[in-house]
Amino acid sequence: MKRAKLAVFASGSGSNYQAIVEACHDGRIEADVVLLVCDKPGAKVLERAERYGTESFAFNPKDYESRDAYETLLAKMLEDRGVDYICLAGYMRIVGRVLLERFEQRIVNIHPSLLPSFKGAHAIQDAVDYGVKIFGVTTHFVDETLDGGRIIDQAAIVYEGSDVEELTNLIHNIEHKLYVKTINKLINKKF
Ligand code: GAR
Repeated sequence: MKRAKLAVFASGSGSNYQAIVEACHDGRIEADVVLLVCDKPGAKVLERAERYGTESFAFNPKDYESRDAYETLLAKMLEDRGVDYICLAGYMRIVGRVLLERFEQRIVNIHPSLLPSFKGAHAIQDAVDYGVKIFGVTTHFVDETLDGGRIIDQAAIVYEGSDVEELTNLIHNIEHKLYVKTINKLINKKF
C-alpha cells in the first residue's frame, strides 16, 4: 500500500507536529509529513520543521485579500504535493470553504478539551476556571465552525490539582498519543 501523505497546519510551538513526524519516522504511522503550513512567521514549529527536514510554508494571512485567496494558494501547494490528509495541530484559525471542499472529510483537528465543552484558544485555562475535574482531549473532523465537526477520538484525565502548567503537560502528552491513534484510523479508513 502506498504511504499516505500528510500536511500539518500549526501556529505555535509544534509539539503535536513533532509527535506526528516522530511516529511517521519510527513506523507507528505509515505516512509521511510532506508539508508544514504555518500562519505565524517566526513560530517555534518552523524551527522544529527545519530540524526534522519537513518542507514548510509560512504566511501571514493579512498579506492576502481574503481567506479564499490564501486557501486557494494552499490548496494548490497541497495538491501539487499529493497531500491526502490535513492535520491541524494548534492551527488557530478557522478553515474555510476552499480547503473544506477540496479536502472533504480529510481534515482533522486536535483540541485540548472534551468537546463540545471549552472550544477556542484557551480551553485548558477555561476548564480550570470553570472548576472542571475531568479534563481531556478530542480529535475530530473539521467543519467551518470553531473546533466543530464529528468527533473521532477522545481521552480523559482526572485532575484535581491546581497547577495549570502541570495539567497542560499531562494533556499534551495525551494529545501526542491520541493524534497517532486518530491518524492511523484516518489512513486505514477505520471509523
Ligand atoms: C494543542 O494543545 C492543541 O490541542 C491546541 O493547541 C495546542 C498546540 O500545541 N489546539 C487548539 O486549542 C485548537 N483550538 P503544540 O503547538 O505544542 O502542538
